[in-house]
Amino acid sequence: MEKREHWGSKFGFILAAAGSAIGLGNIWKFPYIAGENGGAAFVFIYLICIALIGLPVLMAEVLMGRTTQRNPVGAFKKLSGKPFWVAVGSLGVIAGFVILSFYTVIAGWSIGYIVEALKGSFSQFSDPAVSSAYFEARVGDVNWIVGYHTLFSILTMWVVYAGINKGIEQGSKIMMPILFFLLIILVIRGITLPGAEKGLNFLWSPDWSKITGQSVLIALGHAFFTISLGMGAMMTYGSYLSEKDHIPSAALQIVFLDTLIALLAGIAIFSSVFAMGQDPAAGPGLIFHTLPVVFAKMPGGAIWAVLFFLLLTLAALTSAISLLEVVVAYFVDERRWKRHNAVLVFGCIVLLIGIPSALSFNVMKEVHFFGKTWFDNADYLASNILLPGGGLFIAIFVGWIWEFDKVLIELKKGSESLFDTYPIIIKGWRIFLRYLSPVMILIVFLHSVNLLESAWQQVQSSWVIILMLVSVLIKVFQNKK
Ligand code: PHE
Repeated sequence: MEKREHWGSKFGFILAAAGSAIGLGNIWKFPYIAGENGGAAFVFIYLICIALIGLPVLMAEVLMGRTTQRNPVGAFKKLSGKPFWVAVGSLGVIAGFVILSFYTVIAGWSIGYIVEALKGSFSQFSDPAVSSAYFEARVGDVNWIVGYHTLFSILTMWVVYAGINKGIEQGSKIMMPILFFLLIILVIRGITLPGAEKGLNFLWSPDWSKITGQSVLIALGHAFFTISLGMGAMMTYGSYLSEKDHIPSAALQIVFLDTLIALLAGIAIFSSVFAMGQDPAAGPGLIFHTLPVVFAKMPGGAIWAVLFFLLLTLAALTSAISLLEVVVAYFVDERRWKRHNAVLVFGCIVLLIGIPSALSFNVMKEVHFFGKTWFDNADYLASNILLPGGGLFIAIFVGWIWEFDKVLIELKKGSESLFDTYPIIIKGWRIFLRYLSPVMILIVFLHSVNLLESAWQQVQSSWVIILMLVSVLIKVFQNKK
């Protein structure tokens, strides 16, 4: 068996993990869902979800990985060995395949749009109707969409093929600073446009009336996706971590960077959209339909467009490599494959299962399974079932199944000072994992699979959920005493 690699430094791990977290979720999805759900009010709820659920579950995932030095299947096998838990780990590996297969398609559009921007295609866009038609024509072209999907998949394979240090860590050390730099330039460009303050007001002045039970659920679901939780990506990255590293502080830094980038992307996008008089509530098409019009109207727009889509591509690439790494780590650890072979074989398999996702925008547009296209099914299965389901089981496993004394011994490695100074943080972490996270995730999960849909329609205020949770917590505390 090949010797297991480790991150060169804690900083390398943080950049790679932040690279996994920061992706299409931050730059494409967060701005438009915040835009649709009341701006600042939604951002506030999202931040609460990240702090109360995202952070504790992230610590749990990284800890499982570091303790076992294994992929998700191997980690559950080592810590429990029960077939049920091993199956939970396997779902993570399956989620890796599923997410990659549609993620690479959207990321491919992003590369395609760099090329379009370089060709000057956006200069003809006078309004969003023209740019939408252009977008439809591009994704309607099988060669265009499959070609860029393939190109992006090959880039992903190339980085993972080079290994943990020379590939993922080195790649993140190059790509993440460029990503920060590009985003800062785009933020400055955005906020210095005349009329940008309207965009900032939109993002920062809370419209509480738009907050419903539904938007709380969207915020929670997104918190999972954006921190790459629930399928073992962070567990796998944690498995290349050494015992001297401080897990709580690393987790905090990852979550901080992810949130910072989402907020900066929101500022860059909405300041430009408002300054150029475009519709902020354009939904998922915001980036591909609305932004090209914004760029067309800006002085030097083509350059800004190239920078923006380059930013999006890099962000997607550092996430995609973490998805492929979960699959590869499983075959390397459990099936004794050589890394290079695993990357080539499973990278190509992912590329192939992604093709029906790419075709869902053209020749397979009308081919529906369970009422949805292949692409929508893959997205739905991963984002609404596999990730929240995985997150729920990880919280339950670390909160209830894995003996807590052992959990503490492992967590303490590298973070003794935290235990001595703030024991309350550790106690709080356990309570969150045992009660708050599972209850909240269960609510999202049931909602996602539509079991609670009709009930939610009657729940007009998020207060109902908050009250429910508070009462559960009070009960739990009373029982303990
Ligand atoms: N966090 C990534 C994003 O925001 C997506 C992702 C999910 C990556 C799960 C890995 C695992 O785009």
